[in-house]
Amino acid sequence: MKNVLIYCRPGFERDALAEISDKASEHGFYGYGVPAENSGYVLYNTGDDQGGETLIQSLSFNHLIFARQIIAVNDVIDFEKGGRVQALLEAARELPLAEDMWFETADTNEAKALAGLIKKIEKPLMSAWKKAGLLRKKAVGIRHHVFFMEGNQAYLGVSYQSCRSEFLSGIRRLRFPSKGPSRSTLKLEEALLQFVPEQRRERDLYEGMHAVDLGAAPGGWTYQFVIRGIHTYAVDNGPMQKELMNTGLVSHMTEDGFKFKPPGKVDWLVCDMVERPILVAELMAKWLCEGWTQRAIFNLKLPMKKRYQEVVQCFELIASQLKQQGLKYEMQYKHLYHDREEITVCVMVK
Ligand SMILES: C[S@@+](CC[C@H](N)C(=O)[O-])C[C@H]1O[C@@H](n2cnc3c(N)ncnc32)[C@H](O)[C@@H]1O
Repeated sequence: MKNVLIYCRPGFERDALAEISDKASEHGFYGYGVPAENSGYVLYNTGDDQGGETLIQSLSFNHLIFARQIIAVNDVIDFEKGGRVQALLEAARELPLAEDMWFETADTNEAKALAGLIKKIEKPLMSAWKKAGLLRKKAVGIRHHVFFMEGNQAYLGVSYQSCRSEFLSGIRRLRFPSKGPSRSTLKLEEALLQFVPEQRRERDLYEGMHAVDLGAAPGGWTYQFVIRGIHTYAVDNGPMQKELMNTGLVSHMTEDGFKFKPPGKVDWLVCDMVERPILVAELMAKWLCEGWTQRAIFNLKLPMKKRYQEVVQCFELIASQLKQQGLKYEMQYKHLYHDREEITVCVMVK
């Protein structure tokens, strides 16, 4: 398959395209794409018949900012009414066998209106796939995706376990906790699930740790630490939620987050201050270089037009400062579902 299809938050198509073009050129592909404003997806043509699969298999999902999901596809499939199953089945001949099959759309109101159609077509498509022998248990980690554009158009593609979201349409839905101080709490919850998966928690996220939360009020991010039994220094001039303070796990510091120094080394630093991204990046690099923490999760707020370029500058600044200090580190990043005009970054010093 020659194309890569990326699902993204509507409005971020240009950024997603700039990013995939950059990544593709690092892997020797010099293709092109035309972003459709607010469509919630972007198509990148690698210019090579197998380029789509080769490219997505050489990428790492937590090192792609704007991709909620990434699959390899051929051209869009147009179908006549009543001929959908047949048209998709014919196109499926070019796909590798898969373990399962998902039916998805972009995250726009128009696309979501296709839910009824998808429900109707899911069963017949599944049974046609099974009958044709396209679904096999041995095809571990390979998934087919039908991405519906309209009632008479869809992309048919494939994803690989090594680089993809395990959530339908690339969206991890979380329930707002009834005691949560603010909706922002979902941003840190999603970030912790994305960047500190189950198998790493014993080492990186456990009861008894100490954290600093810069720009903490009213306490949505602090809440995520408190429910994990982690003591948190909440730095903000604004008021913190009373219930959270009553847990005894929170020390409220009414100080400037750019000047605050922790009383000793802490296990985590998080930061949700609304500030210029480059200033936040500088501050995070400072904490990591000073050894005040080895783990940081922070938001870079991106209201500007060239968001991808701005983020790259921030990453370069962090990379150069940590390298200068001789630190080895891992940096993960994602425009999470609960993020809006911002992205979330996680840096861990090894
Ligand atoms: C988006 S809100 C944080 C929401 C919080 N993470 C939550 O989940 O409830 C940003 C906060 O940053 C704080 N803030 C902005 N600049 C700051 C600074 N220089 N020092 C400390 N706090 C700051 C603001 O007072 C505001 O409460």
